[in-house]
Amino acid sequence: MYTQALDQLPIEHSAQGDALRQQRFDQRMAAGRTVEPQDWMPEAYRKTLLRQISQHAHSEVVGMLPEGNWISRAPSLERKAILLAKVQDEGGHGLYLYAAAETLGSSREEMVDALLAGRAKYSSIFNYPTPTWADVGVIGWLVDGAAIMNQIPLCRCSYGPYARAMIRVCREESFHQRQGFDLLLAMMRGTEAQRRMVQGAVDRWWWPVLMMFGPSDTESAHSANSMAWGIKRISNDELRQRFVDAAVAQAEVLGVGLPDPELRWNAERGHYDFGAIDWDEFKRVISGDGPCNRERLAARRAAHEAGAWVREAAAEHSRKRASRPHAA
Ligand code: 3HC
Repeated sequence: MYTQALDQLPIEHSAQGDALRQQRFDQRMAAGRTVEPQDWMPEAYRKTLLRQISQHAHSEVVGMLPEGNWISRAPSLERKAILLAKVQDEGGHGLYLYAAAETLGSSREEMVDALLAGRAKYSSIFNYPTPTWADVGVIGWLVDGAAIMNQIPLCRCSYGPYARAMIRVCREESFHQRQGFDLLLAMMRGTEAQRRMVQGAVDRWWWPVLMMFGPSDTESAHSANSMAWGIKRISNDELRQRFVDAAVAQAEVLGVGLPDPELRWNAERGHYDFGAIDWDEFKRVISGDGPCNRERLAARRAAHEAGAWVREAAAEHSRKRASRPHAA
């Protein structure tokens, strides 16, 4: 408590003051202590966090669409209830993350406007179609599995509100991943046609899932700073490798193949080697030209317009409450 209080002593605005603030920030980083909204932080650190957290929030919200599409067509009441709960969780993750991003000085309205105007990025993975029920299972197993691999280290992110939000998100994601695996296992124990459906979905999602981890470390524009600031703890390539290593064993349990002829165990490296990722496809998708980019944004815009009355009613309710005289 004593050192925290010292940290928060006001420093006068001057070149010397700036150097002192930077020094305290660096000491905080070196000591592995979290940065909180009231703490001074370098502008570039704030902007990087706002960029990443808002993109992450948008991903959760847009990520509701490919699966939400299947709620009314789930094959049983039980599967429907599970999927409904899962999609609601993703919406909740978006809200925690918008709230965390708001502590960095941008409003949720500004962030949502940027998404709807097509100025903000969200995860490439949600621009792929979900033509079969097996796609729902593969999203849970592989997409949520990749999300967990990437997000567990974010629970130790240097920015407190993001790290705390990620702890809850990861707990829920782990249920999502298991429900996907369980759904696929049920299908793999079913008919030949169901097994073919699962294999088809795995073949479609495998490479886009590997792209979720972002460009290779040598091409990643933000990694060096984000690692130095303790935002990212593990690099894009290392997380991708860890994911491949884990997924191979899980695919064996399911009894599905992974669509990569170059996938093989490398005893020297102690990891699986895998084939080349099509980075041109990745660039097309993140620049708005993937299979479903237009459809996803159109669906978000329609949902935003349809929800305008809810926002207006909530604002009016809160205005009325604020204008009421306080109870004695
Ligand atoms: N999709 C879209 N854009 C991507 C991307 C992806 N899979 N991977 C990288 N990019 C973008 C970056 O946003 C950056 O663009 P910008 O400069 O315009 O902001 C550019 O490509 C360069 O990439 P970098 O590696 O330099 O970027 P980062 O350091 O930000 O690393 C990241 C990218 C690993 C995705 C990192 O931002 C991250 O860990 N984000 C938090 C996790 C997240 O957002 N996950 C999204 C999936 S959420 C999800 O899956 C929901 C769940 O319910 C399933």
